[in-house]
Amino acid sequence: MNTHTVATTPFNDQKPGTSGLRKKVVVFQSPRYLENFVQAVFETIFDAAAAPSGCTLVLGGDGRYYNREAIQVILKMAAANGFGRVMVGKGGILSTPAASCVIRKYKTFGGIVLSASHNPGGPDGDFGIKYNIGNGGPAPEKVTEAIYTKSKTISAYRMLDAADVALDAVGETSLGNMKVQVFDPVSDYAELMESLFNFAAIRNLLAGGFLRIKFDAMHAVNGPYAKEILERRLGAPVGSVMNAVPLEDFGGGHPDPNLTYAHDLVEIMYGAEAPDFGAASDGDGDRNMILGQRFFVTPSDSLAVIAANATLVPGYKKGLAGIARSMPTSAAADRVAQALNIPCYETPTGWKFFGNLMDAGKVTMCGEESFGTSSDHVREKDGLWAVLFWLNILAVRRQSVESILREHWAKYGRNFYSRYDYDGLPTAAAQGVMSHLQNNFGQLTGAQFGKYTVKFCDDFSYTDPVDGSVSSGQGVRIIFTDGSRIVFRLSGTGTEGATLRVYLEAYEADTSRHHLDAQVALADLIRIALQISELKQRTGREQPTVIT
Ligand code: G1P
Ligand code: ZN
Repeated sequence: MNTHTVATTPFNDQKPGTSGLRKKVVVFQSPRYLENFVQAVFETIFDAAAAPSGCTLVLGGDGRYYNREAIQVILKMAAANGFGRVMVGKGGILSTPAASCVIRKYKTFGGIVLSASHNPGGPDGDFGIKYNIGNGGPAPEKVTEAIYTKSKTISAYRMLDAADVALDAVGETSLGNMKVQVFDPVSDYAELMESLFNFAAIRNLLAGGFLRIKFDAMHAVNGPYAKEILERRLGAPVGSVMNAVPLEDFGGGHPDPNLTYAHDLVEIMYGAEAPDFGAASDGDGDRNMILGQRFFVTPSDSLAVIAANATLVPGYKKGLAGIARSMPTSAAADRVAQALNIPCYETPTGWKFFGNLMDAGKVTMCGEESFGTSSDHVREKDGLWAVLFWLNILAVRRQSVESILREHWAKYGRNFYSRYDYDGLPTAAAQGVMSHLQNNFGQLTGAQFGKYTVKFCDDFSYTDPVDGSVSSGQGVRIIFTDGSRIVFRLSGTGTEGATLRVYLEAYEADTSRHHLDAQVALADLIRIALQISELKQRTGREQPTVIT
């Protein structure tokens, strides 16, 4: 078999963001586009990251359109670039948390995950590619910067001239001098879950019919994982997992587990025959949504409840070293950390900031308001892990989801929370809102809006306590004297125009007000946010695209 060196010229838009390089499928399909980026990744791995030749790479994706084609290209390029072995999930399937698990378990040099997470798939949808390092987490900025720098000067890529590799049966084959090991993408992950949670207690609950559950895999990667773990290993009745077959276009849906997009599940969980517990995960299996019977658990509250109940779960019975949450995530977890007398770190949006804290042993658990929760068992967020955590808590406490939340709020107070997303805005208009805020927040301190008084405003900046690196400009925060907050930031993951996110949080200690609907409790803050930002005037948008 021959290795070809193919001349190429650089593209100028291959800057990987916090979640890798994410573009429309048609962009990835244009000649040399994927190849250029993969070559930039490989040269970075071997040059900048000093990987030994012959090292191992993990490879897989969420099964979306173009997954299989991309895997064949990457395998042939890996063989031509000096890898000794590539471990590929059977059928090209590997959820993001499972990739993290496998990289860590087999101590591989790194891994490539093909996914655009919760973005729609199919020929008109999105595709993405992300490089993870040996700790199982997303590559840090210095690595993604090195990849980007390479991508701008690339003049050739290397590829083995070989037939496609069969991906649909477990086993080992050779590709030139490289081994390709096709493995079961579920078993290592399922084993890790069994080591953390009390499967016997959960099995009692589910197989015994004490708790009826519905898990919506949203036609995405977690289908096979949920079938194996929830139905086969934990005995939930067949059919408890819905939309379980990964489809290239996610059935035409938007595989994002929230009240808007997980409508199949929401209908069931709010219906007359609603089960006791519902959950969903996203395209690549790292996000989660938790529902009780006709009851929504905000991701911020979910993190707080999980942290407060951690010692009920075998893998966490010694307690937590600390908790971390992203800045826009509500402060509900902070209150739990305070009660447990452990630190709570506030990081910029994006999972990569948690990795350093976990590697340094400073935090055990972390979460984001965007339906992401996890712990140091991997270095990614982990959708099924969060679901199993809840099931373990329910198996011990034998209460409804709603009553667990009500007790939690009675003890810690309630942080009412909501996020408004304005998608597909003209970039200039969205940036206009942000600069207007940045130019004017200095004058807001002390300003009074009804019962709310502004304590301070800033543009969030974070100094990593482990490596001292500074990330500034991470979102405008308006913080009120009672702990309520409004946060504005621009999304870094969209692929069309700009997405402006407005995060609203109102703290309420008074138990008699805990039953309020979040939108009612937040109505004043929403008004204040629109007034201060001039959002409607500047964007022409009357309503947000999505409210979560
Ligand atoms: C969004 C979420 C963020 C998450 C990221 C990747 O990023 O807000 O919390 O880490 O997706 O899943 P954003 O589009 O806001 O930059
Ligand atoms: Zn995801």
